[in-house]
Amino acid sequence: MDPIHQAIAVRFTFPVHFTTEVFASSNPVLRDVVSRGGGMAPARILFVVDDGVARHHPTVVKDIERYCQDHADALTLAAPVLVVPGGETIKNDARHVADLHRVIHDAALCRHSYVAAVGGGAVLDAVGYAAATAHRGIRMIRVATTILAQDDSAVGVKNGINAFGKKNYLGTFAPPFAVINDSNFLHTLSDRDWRGGLTEAVKAALIRDRAFFERLEQQATALAARDPRAAEDVIRRSAEIHLTHIASGGDPFESGSSRPLDFGHWAAHKLEQLTNHRLGHGEAVGIGLALDTTYSHLSGLLPEADWRRVIALLRALGLELHAPELSQCLDRPDDPACVLGGLDEFREHLGGRLTIMLLRGIGDPVDVHEIDRNVMIRSIGVLEGIHDYEIPAQSEGTRR
Ligand SMILES: NC(=O)c1ccc[n+]([C@@H]2O[C@H](COP(=O)([O-])OP(=O)(O)OC[C@H]3O[C@@H](n4cnc5c(N)ncnc54)[C@H](O)[C@@H]3O)[C@@H](O)[C@H]2O)c1
Ligand SMILES: [Zn+2]
Repeated sequence: MDPIHQAIAVRFTFPVHFTTEVFASSNPVLRDVVSRGGGMAPARILFVVDDGVARHHPTVVKDIERYCQDHADALTLAAPVLVVPGGETIKNDARHVADLHRVIHDAALCRHSYVAAVGGGAVLDAVGYAAATAHRGIRMIRVATTILAQDDSAVGVKNGINAFGKKNYLGTFAPPFAVINDSNFLHTLSDRDWRGGLTEAVKAALIRDRAFFERLEQQATALAARDPRAAEDVIRRSAEIHLTHIASGGDPFESGSSRPLDFGHWAAHKLEQLTNHRLGHGEAVGIGLALDTTYSHLSGLLPEADWRRVIALLRALGLELHAPELSQCLDRPDDPACVLGGLDEFREHLGGRLTIMLLRGIGDPVDVHEIDRNVMIRSIGVLEGIHDYEIPAQSEGTRR
């Protein structure tokens, strides 16, 4: 018997809003987002707030409650506002997702209800996973409160938590119902989270947009000094690049092996694990970008001038280019504590053949399927010894 061949075309659309003071009653963005969903008014919403946000913005829970009262015709709280642990804590223990499922269940949310998560990338990932798996998918509104969430993670189509010591091992592809980037949250970020969030914008520029890279160079001092205008401009362009890639790259749910948005990420994910999350995702990505850019240069793909510019930009943004864990156990590549194991874990997470994106130029990426470990070890050596953007002499570069 001939098989039946079935194709299912599904179209997702969602807005990404840029606003300030999203929970001020005079701000219509959130009520408009919910009203657009149709269905019975008022819409029922469960708000889940990152405890880091609640700590630094002590009125946020009250502001949400007041917003719902003042817009009672459009939206209503389905349960008291829930405050959850921020950062990787929420992603490292599946009990937090189970707790969220329980609250969603007890609040009797349905597929026409909303879960609105207010927080950094980690909280958005974990709450998104809980929302995507309850009733096989409840509408998810992401209110992003870190640079990294605003310029990358919140505008994407993924969620997840960590398991078996691996980043994002459990998760789904689930486009959000809406994303709201509120710049007012950003001024309370720690310096580390401020800088770390910029690495995903550098990544986006490196793989897609040389002119944006040049803008980042021009704005580097302002960005490092936490200039909000400069940050808004960079966040918007980075979000745009991420969105365009997801929408037009031909592989939104990553069934192929090439993942340009994960440039520099094989080492970053492994470093997050090896440092027990002492390094945040953005900080680890900064090192991962430096590493794969250095490898691109030492393996003969990337001209030296471009390599110097990338390293100079990362340093001007105040980012670290090396961590001790990068250099440990390099003589024992099979040791789980060696960063090189991250290559295989990356391949497994993608499925199929190892595919690592490298650079031929700024904004000019190329996929490769093999990595020369000796050159990678040399690249690590360069980053370990890097001063004043000079490539150390060959003998130093080859140290193990
Ligand atoms: N789904 C995706 O496509 C995707 C993409 C990139 C990164 N990520 C994930 O995102 C996570 C990193 O996100 P992140 O960089 O936003 O860090 P984070 O979510 O870990 O937050 C860092 C810290 O900042 C606090 N915080 C959040 N907002 C704050 C604010 N406005 N003021 C003060 N403190 C605040 C948090 O409580 C936390 O302690 C990682 O788990 C990473 O894997 C996901
Ligand atoms: Zn990332």
